[in-house]
Amino acid sequence: MPTRPTIVRNLPALRRAIAGYRKTRQTVALVPTMGALHSGHLKLVSEARKRARRVVVSIFVNPTQFAPNEDFGSYPRTFATDIKALRDAGADLVWAPTPRVMYPDGFSTRVEPAGVAKAGLEDKYRPHFFGGVATVVTKLFTQVTPDVAMFGQKDYQQLRVVTQMAKDLDLPVKVIGIPTVREKDGLALSSRNAYLSHEERTVATTLARVLKAAASRIKSDEPIARVLADELNEITAAGFVVDYLEARHALTLAPIAARKDGPIRLLVAARLGKTRLIDNLAV
Ligand code: PAJ
Repeated sequence: MPTRPTIVRNLPALRRAIAGYRKTRQTVALVPTMGALHSGHLKLVSEARKRARRVVVSIFVNPTQFAPNEDFGSYPRTFATDIKALRDAGADLVWAPTPRVMYPDGFSTRVEPAGVAKAGLEDKYRPHFFGGVATVVTKLFTQVTPDVAMFGQKDYQQLRVVTQMAKDLDLPVKVIGIPTVREKDGLALSSRNAYLSHEERTVATTLARVLKAAASRIKSDEPIARVLADELNEITAAGFVVDYLEARHALTLAPIAARKDGPIRLLVAARLGKTRLIDNLAV
């Protein structure tokens, strides 16, 4: 029995492995990640296993989606633990290119998404972000040629951007969004939760609680603007600096003023000390 997962670090080896799967008509699912894997990522892997014969997980901390002042250097890297978790989760292959393999000298092309990528949410606070994500995800799709690719609803705008990009560029891959995996107290799992101090970790649950409260108030037809203003105060009072708390159309991400204009997605991003957290919820 070969030991799973196979770890591949260069393009010729990746192409050989994928060609091997294709030769016997095995379908392929891709789960793109930046490593520091938690149960949210592993849920994407288990959902991928239901949808394809082979599961490829990419681990690549993508430098082009971090701004110079962001946490690229300190982003948690836990490769050995990740591989163990992926073996238990039943991944077949781990695609772990170095930055040089992904962006060789002279690399000079960027995929710059518009539309949902310019909704004034994450893009407003991280203007580098979706160009970097779209570029690396396009490369991952081209490298791995998956039939399906799994993305978490946790990064809701990213899921919308990647879905639209695959459609716009006629990429032959079905993008599938998987519901957010949460801690028992509601906090959405995130690799960045590791940055939280003990006290911050307690406060962090506010985001999920506020989203839930806001969704239920909007469902009972309270005016959206009033609900958002109240809940914004809640988050601020808990000690966060809020980037945004918004009600948007779930597909277009356009601002929404009334429930009848929905489906509505509530989205929040806020900073607690040095840690920036995001979350979202359907109304
Ligand atoms: P990363 O933050 O590692 O996340 C990888 C995938 O796991 C994303 O699709 C993300 O939405 C999903 N995910 C994270 N936390 C989750 C949770 N609590 N529940 C469900 N899914 C969750 O997102 C990225 O990496 C990068 O931008 C990437 C797409 C890999 C491109 O570099």
